[in-house]
Amino acid sequence: MFIFITIFGFFAIFFLLRTLRLQNLRHCNCEICHAYITSSWRNDFDNLCDWYSHLLRRSPTLTIQVHVLNNVITANPDNVEHVLKTRFDNYPKGKQFSDILGDLLGRGIFNSDGDTWRFQRKLSSLELGSVSVRIFAHDIIKNEIEMRLVPLLNSFGDHGLDLDLQDAFRRFSFDTISKLSFGFDPVCLRLPLTSSELVDAFDMASTLSAHRALAPSPLFWKIKRFLNIGSEKKLKQSIDVINRLVGDLIKQRRKKGSGMNNNDLISRFMAVVGDDDEYLRDIVVNFLLAGRDTVAAGLTGFFWLLNRHPEVENRIREELERVMGPGLDPVTASFNQMQEMNYLHSTVYESMRLLPPVQFDSKFALNNDILADGTFVESGARVTYHPYAMGRMDRVWGPDCEEFRPERWLDSAGKFRPENPVKYPVFQAGPRVCVGKDMAIMEMKSVAVTIIRRFEIRVVGSNPISRAPRFAPGLTATVSGGLPIRVRERRG
Ligand code: HEM
Repeated sequence: MFIFITIFGFFAIFFLLRTLRLQNLRHCNCEICHAYITSSWRNDFDNLCDWYSHLLRRSPTLTIQVHVLNNVITANPDNVEHVLKTRFDNYPKGKQFSDILGDLLGRGIFNSDGDTWRFQRKLSSLELGSVSVRIFAHDIIKNEIEMRLVPLLNSFGDHGLDLDLQDAFRRFSFDTISKLSFGFDPVCLRLPLTSSELVDAFDMASTLSAHRALAPSPLFWKIKRFLNIGSEKKLKQSIDVINRLVGDLIKQRRKKGSGMNNNDLISRFMAVVGDDDEYLRDIVVNFLLAGRDTVAAGLTGFFWLLNRHPEVENRIREELERVMGPGLDPVTASFNQMQEMNYLHSTVYESMRLLPPVQFDSKFALNNDILADGTFVESGARVTYHPYAMGRMDRVWGPDCEEFRPERWLDSAGKFRPENPVKYPVFQAGPRVCVGKDMAIMEMKSVAVTIIRRFEIRVVGSNPISRAPRFAPGLTATVSGGLPIRVRERRG
C-alpha cells in the first residue's frame, strides 16, 4: 500500500509540474479580467452571455479580449467571415478544444480537424442531403409528433397539470435524433415520462465537459481528472455509461445487419467504416449531441418568445389556415405545405437570432494573425464568435435589434429572405456550417405547426415572462428551471 501511495504521489507531482510548465498561466488585472476572475459581473447580469453582449456593444470594433483566458471574443461579422471562411485553415477546432471535449466526443465530427473531419463531413452531408434520408427524417418527426407529442400535450391539458416544455422538447429531439442516427427508439417522450440512463448520462457529461471550458486554466480540471476526483470523477462515470450503452446498441445494430438499404446514419457509416466500433461510437455520440440539445433549445426559445408576442402567434395561425385549410386537422403539415410557410419560417429564424441554441463557438489560431478589424491574434489564442451577442448589436441588425420582429426576414412579396451567415452564424458559416440545418428547421417548423394549430399554451411558474431567461451553463442554451407551461386543446 505504502509503495502504491509513493508511486502515485510521484506521478501526481510530476504531472502537476509538467502541466504547469505547459499551460503558461496568464495573469491580468484589467477591468474585464478582474470581473471575470472574481465573478463580479454577476452583480449586474444574470448570464455570462449578457455581460459579454454588454461589453461587445461598448467596443468600437465589436471585439473584446479576456486576457486570462487568452480569448478574443467578437460580434463583428467581418471578423466572423475572416475566421470561419477567409482564414479557415488558420482556425481549426484545435488541441485545446479537443482536450476539453475529447473524452466525450472522441474522434467524432465536432471534435476533429483535417482528414478525420473531412471524411465524416463528406459522408454526413451526402446522407443528410439525400432525398431518401430527408423523407426518412420527415416520417420520424411526423410519427413522434402524432404518436407522442400530441397525446402528451392532451394528457397534461386534460388533467390541468403544468408541463416543462423544455423537458418535453429534449425528450422529443432525443427520440428523433436517436432514430435517425442509429434506428434506435429510446422512447423518452412516451407517457408516463420516465428517466433514461442514457439521457441522464448525456446531460451530465455535456454539462461537466462545458464546465471545463469555463476554468481559468485547463490545469484545474486536468489535475482533477488525473486524480479522478470531484466533477471529473462524475464525468468519467457518465462517459462510461454512454460508452457501455452506445456500445451495446452498435453491437445490436451489427447483428441486425447494416447496409445502404437502411436509412439510419449508422448503417451508412458502418458500410464505410467497417468494424471499428470505437469510431462508430464517436460518430453516433457526436450526432446525438448535435441533434438533440440544439433543436430542443431552439424550440424552447421559440415558444418563450411566442408567449410574449401573441400578435406573432396569430399571424402564424392565419398562415397555417391559409396553407393547410381551417380546423384542427391535419395535425402535421406535409413537406410541400411547410415550404409555403414563409412567415413561420421567418419566425423560426428570428427566434434563433435572439435566442440562438449555440450562444458562442470557439476556434484556436494556428499562427499569429490579424482579424478584419485589426485585432492581433497570437498563435494558440482562442477566438470566439458570439451569435447571442450579435443578435443584440444595433450595428449588425439596426436600432430595433432587440425587438422580436419576424417581418425583418420577409421581402416585399412576403417571401423569406435569407441573411448572410456571417451576420447570422447561428448554424456557423463557411466549410463547417451545420450539416443538420435543413433538418433542424424542418423539425422546428413541424412541431410549431402542430402546437400552434392544435393547442394554446401559456408560460406559468416562478420564471417571470417579463425577464430574459436565465441560462444554466452548458454546451447549448438551457433555460434554468425549464419552461413550465399550461396547455389547453383548442376547439375546432
Ligand atoms: C436548431 C438546431 C441546430 C443548431 C442551432 C445547430 C448549430 C450548429 C453549429 C453552431 C455548429 C458548429 C459547431 C462547431 O463547429 O463547433 C453545428 C455543427 C454541426 N451540426 Fe448542427 N445545429 C442544429 C441542429 C443539428 C441537427 C438536427 C443535426 C443532425 C442531424 C446537426 C448536425 C451537425 C453536425 C454533424 C455538425 C458538425 C459540422 C462540422 O463540424 O463540419 N445539427 N451545428
